[in-house]
Amino acid sequence: MSQKREILPGFIVLEGIDGSGTTTQLKRLETRFKKLHIRSCFSFEPSNGPVGELIREALSGRFNALPSTIARLFAADRAEHLYGSKGIVDQLKAGKIAVSDRYLFSSLAYQGLTCGEELPAMLNASFPLPELLLFFKLDPDTAISRMQSRKGLEIYENLDFQKRVANAYDRVVSSFDDSGMKIVCLDASNNPEFVEEAVWQAVSAILPA
Ligand code: TMP
Repeated sequence: MSQKREILPGFIVLEGIDGSGTTTQLKRLETRFKKLHIRSCFSFEPSNGPVGELIREALSGRFNALPSTIARLFAADRAEHLYGSKGIVDQLKAGKIAVSDRYLFSSLAYQGLTCGEELPAMLNASFPLPELLLFFKLDPDTAISRMQSRKGLEIYENLDFQKRVANAYDRVVSSFDDSGMKIVCLDASNNPEFVEEAVWQAVSAILPA
Protein backbone atom coordinates (compact mmCIF):
# COMPACT_ATOMS: atom_id res chain seq x y z
CA MET A 1 0.00 0.00 0.00
CA SER A 2 1.36 3.44 -0.92
CA GLN A 3 2.06 5.60 2.13
CA LYS A 4 2.37 8.89 0.20
CA ARG A 5 0.79 11.71 2.20
CA GLU A 6 1.40 15.27 3.30
CA ILE A 7 4.81 15.89 4.93
CA LEU A 8 5.21 18.58 7.59
CA PRO A 9 8.57 20.36 7.14
CA GLY A 10 10.34 20.92 10.46
CA PHE A 11 8.53 18.07 12.21
CA ILE A 12 10.81 15.38 13.66
CA VAL A 13 9.70 12.13 15.32
CA LEU A 14 11.62 9.65 17.49
CA GLU A 15 10.35 6.06 17.53
CA GLY A 16 11.44 2.71 18.96
CA ILE A 17 10.44 -0.11 21.29
CA ASP A 18 10.10 0.57 25.02
CA GLY A 19 13.54 1.08 26.59
CA SER A 20 15.19 2.09 23.30
CA GLY A 21 16.11 5.52 24.69
CA THR A 22 13.90 7.91 22.69
CA THR A 23 12.94 9.89 25.81
CA THR A 24 16.58 10.30 26.92
CA GLN A 25 17.56 11.49 23.45
CA LEU A 26 14.59 13.87 23.20
CA LYS A 27 15.84 15.57 26.38
CA ARG A 28 19.41 15.72 25.09
CA LEU A 29 18.26 17.24 21.81
CA GLU A 30 16.16 19.79 23.70
CA THR A 31 19.22 20.84 25.75
CA ARG A 32 21.26 21.19 22.56
CA PHE A 33 18.57 23.25 20.81
CA LYS A 34 18.34 25.56 23.84
CA LYS A 35 22.10 26.15 23.85
CA LEU A 36 21.99 26.97 20.15
CA HIS A 37 18.88 29.18 20.55
CA ILE A 38 16.97 27.15 17.99
CA ARG A 39 13.26 27.94 18.21
CA SER A 40 11.64 24.62 18.91
CA CYS A 41 9.01 22.70 20.82
CA PHE A 42 9.40 19.26 22.35
CA SER A 43 6.48 16.96 23.11
CA PHE A 44 5.49 13.33 23.43
CA GLU A 45 2.70 10.84 22.91
CA PRO A 46 0.71 9.82 24.84
CA SER A 47 0.43 13.53 25.62
CA ASN A 48 -0.03 15.09 29.06
CA GLY A 49 -3.51 16.31 28.06
CA PRO A 50 -6.78 14.73 29.29
CA VAL A 51 -6.90 12.05 26.56
CA GLY A 52 -3.26 11.20 27.24
CA GLU A 53 -4.07 10.86 30.96
CA LEU A 54 -6.80 8.38 30.13
CA ILE A 55 -4.35 6.41 27.98
CA ARG A 56 -1.91 6.28 30.93
CA GLU A 57 -4.71 4.79 33.06
CA ALA A 58 -5.21 2.10 30.41
CA LEU A 59 -1.46 1.45 30.06
CA SER A 60 -1.12 0.99 33.82
CA GLY A 61 -3.97 -1.53 33.77
CA ARG A 62 -6.11 0.58 36.13
CA PHE A 63 -8.58 1.20 33.28
CA ASN A 64 -9.25 -2.17 31.69
CA ALA A 65 -9.98 -0.85 28.19
CA LEU A 66 -10.61 -2.84 25.02
CA PRO A 67 -7.61 -2.86 22.63
CA SER A 68 -9.77 -1.07 20.05
CA THR A 69 -10.65 1.62 22.62
CA ILE A 70 -6.94 2.16 23.28
CA ALA A 71 -6.30 2.49 19.52
CA ARG A 72 -9.05 5.11 19.27
CA LEU A 73 -7.75 7.00 22.32
CA PHE A 74 -4.24 7.18 20.83
CA ALA A 75 -5.68 8.57 17.58
CA ALA A 76 -7.79 11.14 19.46
CA ASP A 77 -4.79 12.18 21.57
CA ARG A 78 -2.73 12.50 18.36
CA ALA A 79 -5.33 14.76 16.74
CA GLU A 80 -5.18 17.09 19.79
CA HIS A 81 -1.36 16.95 19.85
CA LEU A 82 -1.23 17.88 16.18
CA TYR A 83 -4.15 20.20 15.56
CA GLY A 84 -5.13 21.41 19.04
CA SER A 85 -4.37 24.90 20.31
CA LYS A 86 -0.55 25.33 20.48
CA GLY A 87 -0.22 21.90 18.91
CA ILE A 88 2.42 20.78 16.43
CA VAL A 89 0.79 22.48 13.44
CA ASP A 90 0.56 25.82 15.30
CA GLN A 91 4.20 25.53 16.40
CA LEU A 92 5.41 24.79 12.89
CA LYS A 93 3.40 27.73 11.54
CA ALA A 94 5.16 29.92 14.11
CA GLY A 95 8.45 28.84 12.50
CA LYS A 96 9.58 26.41 15.20
CA ILE A 97 11.09 22.96 14.82
CA ALA A 98 8.73 20.45 16.49
CA VAL A 99 10.12 17.25 17.93
CA SER A 100 7.92 14.44 19.24
CA ASP A 101 8.75 11.34 21.25
CA ARG A 102 6.47 8.83 19.39
CA TYR A 103 3.79 9.42 16.78
CA LEU A 104 1.55 7.39 14.49
CA PHE A 105 4.25 4.74 13.83
CA SER A 106 3.79 3.62 17.46
CA SER A 107 0.08 3.03 16.84
CA LEU A 108 0.74 1.11 13.64
CA ALA A 109 3.28 -1.11 15.45
CA TYR A 110 1.71 -1.59 18.92
CA GLN A 111 -2.02 -1.39 18.16
CA GLY A 112 -1.42 -3.27 14.89
CA LEU A 113 -0.54 -6.17 17.19
CA THR A 114 -3.20 -5.72 19.84
CA CYS A 115 -6.23 -5.13 17.63
CA GLY A 116 -5.19 -6.04 14.09
CA GLU A 117 -3.64 -3.81 11.44
CA GLU A 118 -6.83 -2.52 9.87
CA LEU A 119 -8.20 -0.32 12.67
CA PRO A 120 -4.96 1.60 13.47
CA ALA A 121 -4.26 1.97 9.73
CA MET A 122 -7.70 3.51 9.26
CA LEU A 123 -7.52 5.72 12.37
CA ASN A 124 -4.11 7.09 11.36
CA ALA A 125 -4.53 7.33 7.59
CA SER A 126 -5.17 11.05 7.47
CA PHE A 127 -2.36 12.25 9.75
CA PRO A 128 0.54 13.94 7.94
CA LEU A 129 4.09 12.59 8.12
CA PRO A 130 7.10 14.22 9.79
CA GLU A 131 9.98 15.45 7.67
CA LEU A 132 12.36 13.19 9.61
CA LEU A 133 11.75 9.88 11.38
CA LEU A 134 14.51 8.73 13.73
CA PHE A 135 14.04 5.01 14.26
CA PHE A 136 15.85 3.66 17.34
CA LYS A 137 16.80 0.01 16.81
CA LEU A 138 17.51 -2.10 19.88
CA ASP A 139 17.43 -5.79 20.69
CA PRO A 140 14.36 -6.38 22.95
CA ASP A 141 16.40 -8.37 25.52
CA THR A 142 18.67 -5.36 26.04
CA ALA A 143 15.68 -3.01 26.13
CA ILE A 144 13.89 -5.05 28.80
CA SER A 145 17.03 -5.31 30.93
CA ARG A 146 17.32 -1.49 30.78
CA MET A 147 13.75 -1.26 32.13
CA GLN A 148 14.24 -3.59 35.12
CA SER A 149 14.85 -0.70 37.52
CA ARG A 150 11.54 0.99 36.54
CA LYS A 151 8.69 0.73 39.00
CA GLY A 152 5.22 -0.45 37.88
CA LEU A 153 5.76 -1.70 34.33
CA GLU A 154 2.99 -0.88 31.85
CA ILE A 155 0.89 -3.48 29.99
CA TYR A 156 3.17 -3.61 26.92
CA GLU A 157 6.45 -3.75 28.86
CA ASN A 158 7.25 -7.46 28.72
CA LEU A 159 9.81 -9.33 26.64
CA ASP A 160 7.44 -11.45 24.51
CA PHE A 161 5.38 -8.46 23.45
CA GLN A 162 8.42 -6.23 22.83
CA LYS A 163 9.91 -8.89 20.52
CA ARG A 164 6.72 -8.75 18.47
CA VAL A 165 6.72 -4.93 18.55
CA ALA A 166 10.32 -4.89 17.27
CA ASN A 167 9.29 -6.99 14.24
CA ALA A 168 6.15 -4.94 13.68
CA TYR A 169 8.17 -1.69 13.76
CA ASP A 170 10.52 -3.01 11.07
CA ARG A 171 7.55 -3.78 8.83
CA VAL A 172 5.81 -0.48 9.59
CA VAL A 173 8.89 1.70 9.05
CA SER A 174 9.83 -0.04 5.79
CA SER A 175 6.27 0.47 4.50
CA PHE A 176 7.14 4.23 4.49
CA ASP A 177 10.31 3.80 2.42
CA ASP A 178 8.77 5.49 -0.63
CA SER A 179 6.73 8.07 1.28
CA GLY A 180 9.18 10.95 0.78
CA MET A 181 9.75 11.18 4.56
CA LYS A 182 13.43 10.96 5.55
CA ILE A 183 14.04 7.84 7.68
CA VAL A 184 17.23 7.41 9.72
CA CYS A 185 17.81 4.16 11.64
CA LEU A 186 20.00 4.49 14.72
CA ASP A 187 21.82 1.77 16.63
CA ALA A 188 20.37 2.41 20.10
CA SER A 189 22.66 -0.17 21.74
CA ASN A 190 25.48 2.39 21.65
CA ASN A 191 26.16 4.60 24.67
CA PRO A 192 23.91 7.69 25.03
CA GLU A 193 26.68 10.13 23.98
CA PHE A 194 27.27 8.23 20.76
CA VAL A 195 23.52 8.01 20.00
CA GLU A 196 23.22 11.74 20.74
CA GLU A 197 25.82 12.49 18.08
CA ALA A 198 24.03 10.26 15.55
CA VAL A 199 20.74 12.04 16.34
CA TRP A 200 22.42 15.42 15.92
CA GLN A 201 23.94 14.46 12.59
CA ALA A 202 20.50 13.50 11.24
CA VAL A 203 18.70 16.49 12.76
CA SER A 204 21.24 19.15 11.76
CA ALA A 205 21.01 17.92 8.16
CA ILE A 206 17.41 19.10 7.95
CA LEU A 207 17.71 22.37 9.90
CA PRO A 208 17.30 25.52 7.81
CA ALA A 209 20.70 27.07 7.01
P1 TMP B 1 6.33 5.84 26.49
O1 TMP B 1 6.89 4.65 27.20
O2 TMP B 1 7.15 6.33 25.36
O3 TMP B 1 5.87 6.91 27.43
O4 TMP B 1 4.98 5.34 25.74
C1 TMP B 1 3.99 4.70 26.45
C2 TMP B 1 3.59 3.42 25.82
O5 TMP B 1 2.56 3.65 24.87
C3 TMP B 1 4.67 2.62 25.08
O6 TMP B 1 4.57 1.26 25.50
C4 TMP B 1 4.28 2.73 23.64
C5 TMP B 1 2.78 2.87 23.72
N1 TMP B 1 2.15 3.55 22.57
C6 TMP B 1 1.25 2.83 21.80
O7 TMP B 1 0.99 1.67 22.06
N2 TMP B 1 0.64 3.47 20.76
C7 TMP B 1 0.87 4.78 20.45
O8 TMP B 1 0.29 5.30 19.48
C8 TMP B 1 1.79 5.51 21.27
C9 TMP B 1 2.07 6.95 20.98
C10 TMP B 1 2.42 4.86 22.32
